[in-house]
Amino acid sequence: MDENLAHYSFRQACGIAPHPGEPEFLLWAQKQNLRFSDLIGTADPFSRITPVPVPVDLSVGSAWLGHAREFTDPNRLAFELDCLSRQQKGAVPAGGYLEYRSEPFLKTYGAGMETQGDIRAEGNNGPVCRSLHLGTDVWAKPGTPVHTLFDGRVVQVWTAGNDGSLTETETVTKTDGPLGSAALMLAHQTLGGMAFFTLYLGLDPECLNRLHKDRAVEKGEELGVVAARTAGENRVPHLHFQVTLDRMGQGCTFPRVVFPDQRQVWRSICPDPNLFLKNQSLAQGPGVDTDTVLAFRCRHLGKSLSLSYDTPLKIVRGSGAFLVDEAGRPYLDTVNNVAHVGHEHPRVVKAGQAQMAVLNTNTRYLHDSINRFAETLLATFPKPLSVVHFVNSGSEANELALRMAKAVTGHRDMIAVEVGYHGNTGACIDISSYKFDGKGGQGAVHTHIVPLPDAFRGLYRGADTGLQYAAHVREQIDRVHAAGRGIAGFICESIISCGGQIELPNGYLKTAYDAVHRAGGVCIADEVQVGCGRVGHAFWAFELHDVVPDIVTIGKPIGNGHPLAAVVCTQKVAESFANGMEYFNTFGGNPVSCSVGREVLHVIADEGLQENARTTGAYLKSGLKDLQKRFPVIGDVRGQGLFLGFELVDETLQPLGDRAGYLANRMRDLGILMSTDGRDHNVLKIKPPMVFSRTNADELLFRLETVFGEDAMAV
Ligand SMILES: Cc1ncc(COP(=O)(O)O)c(C=O)c1O
Repeated sequence: MDENLAHYSFRQACGIAPHPGEPEFLLWAQKQNLRFSDLIGTADPFSRITPVPVPVDLSVGSAWLGHAREFTDPNRLAFELDCLSRQQKGAVPAGGYLEYRSEPFLKTYGAGMETQGDIRAEGNNGPVCRSLHLGTDVWAKPGTPVHTLFDGRVVQVWTAGNDGSLTETETVTKTDGPLGSAALMLAHQTLGGMAFFTLYLGLDPECLNRLHKDRAVEKGEELGVVAARTAGENRVPHLHFQVTLDRMGQGCTFPRVVFPDQRQVWRSICPDPNLFLKNQSLAQGPGVDTDTVLAFRCRHLGKSLSLSYDTPLKIVRGSGAFLVDEAGRPYLDTVNNVAHVGHEHPRVVKAGQAQMAVLNTNTRYLHDSINRFAETLLATFPKPLSVVHFVNSGSEANELALRMAKAVTGHRDMIAVEVGYHGNTGACIDISSYKFDGKGGQGAVHTHIVPLPDAFRGLYRGADTGLQYAAHVREQIDRVHAAGRGIAGFICESIISCGGQIELPNGYLKTAYDAVHRAGGVCIADEVQVGCGRVGHAFWAFELHDVVPDIVTIGKPIGNGHPLAAVVCTQKVAESFANGMEYFNTFGGNPVSCSVGREVLHVIADEGLQENARTTGAYLKSGLKDLQKRFPVIGDVRGQGLFLGFELVDETLQPLGDRAGYLANRMRDLGILMSTDGRDHNVLKIKPPMVFSRTNADELLFRLETVFGEDAMAV
């Protein structure tokens, strides 16, 4: 670490101004009366229009920037900036002091003079990103003159290549070939004699022919003009203007973006350029601190909402297998099986945006998008499942499935699995033992619970216990019959998620389905978590068990984050349900949702994501099994494809929920999101976006190994 930076960091820890000169500098700066137009002129020397800054949001979560693909496309960014600058005469998009920027943006626009491309580093707690931007960016048109705000002297000169890399030049460089741009550092003094520096990046290299090291400059002098974009340059040229009280190692290592945890220190070393310019548009917003966000949420949002992790995260962007917090830190997401084809997949985003711009209405009109989606979706099912109803959530799908089961059979008694979860509506809670048998639950009258078929710690143990578990389904049917009633149906996930990633033992589902069918009931496969190729060997997890349900409910993954779900059933079920009462659903099956759903299915196919789930899932599972050999606290590793889990127990198979909680929180600290579940909350669930790669799996295994090695995980 730079010696001065260490000094300032210690001062900050002691609660005093990190840079000793900061208080004096701030007092002096406040008395300076400069304007934006003192820094930036106009490209046209005869123009009488005064340049005025218009704020531009380039922060991690900026909706103005939009999708990562868009803002790293220089043509797109240039177009959007141009639109902004047309908003008023003389408008120049500007801003960015102490703004957190995202990794892809910084990879394009550079991080620091010595760290081009080196945005990520390993911190004390896993990977960290330089994301805090220290200067003000001025997105003025090429050719716009840039002036020095103070008398001073050139102390450093750099040339920048097309890739944004900077090379220090000692002498005037006569440029032979096309250079990207030039950068200068000027030294100045306050009235009291305190030295400070200003940094200008993005000037046309022509200025190097006039400005060399040690050359004096006069307040108001034109330093150069904003560089033009050269052929092959992948960035939009602009001026980066930064003030600094310290050259830090003579400037050769001077950064433009720094690590977020050094915010207070760098804010003192590099004060806000707007201290001089005093422009409202460039003023930093007050920012909302996490405590305020949390306090509002606790007071005004539903009181039963929960938050993940001891220290909650504020996530502002998603990309592929990663979520990014407001300070630009990426977290590898192993939890989110909703962002099935990757967070904010560009094709899915585009499909939704495109249809949204044209039409969104209900199913009472003919529309191609619903038919096309239905056709693509039904093609993934075995033949008997050939009718679809579109809804908006997994709960709504199961609610409808229950109505169907009742309509078909004329009965309302359901059989469901212990610790199962099927949704948040009244009827769904009544079949979710995870809820009604848990905290605040009150049991359910017409639901008959069969034991969780847990081959590891359940009533019967071992892979060949399927028939023993299935016998309980028969037993419940007999009980209902004995009470003089009939069975409406049996609902079961094909791998039980909330129960703790429980793979159904051999023969369980087939035997249970046979018993239910013989009793006249319908079988509902809840594929809300496990569907759409996630289990690798099959597109739908029920297919792993050689059964064909009467009704399949689909939710989370099919919309990749858009509220979209579906109920697929046989012709027989659909006909019995259509008893004359219209089924109307305001949003279900709307053209936007259908466009999104169809694109998700196409992306799964085009990108081979089911195959990726199979191969990467197998690789990860074998890595977890290796960890299990070294850390006996891992009692069981199970699951299929990218729907995996491992269970923490002691030597007597007692569940270790506290260790699981510790592990999830430590992994979060190390930049990996995991969740716990199961009756005893001792199972770590792994169900990442299906773009999860081997590299991601290696990262996960590496961090798990670190945490398993910690004292707190010992048994
Ligand atoms: C297996 C299962 N079914 C149904 C649901 C309900 O889906 P939603 O939350 O979309 O209503 C969930 C939600 O977690 C689920 O895990």
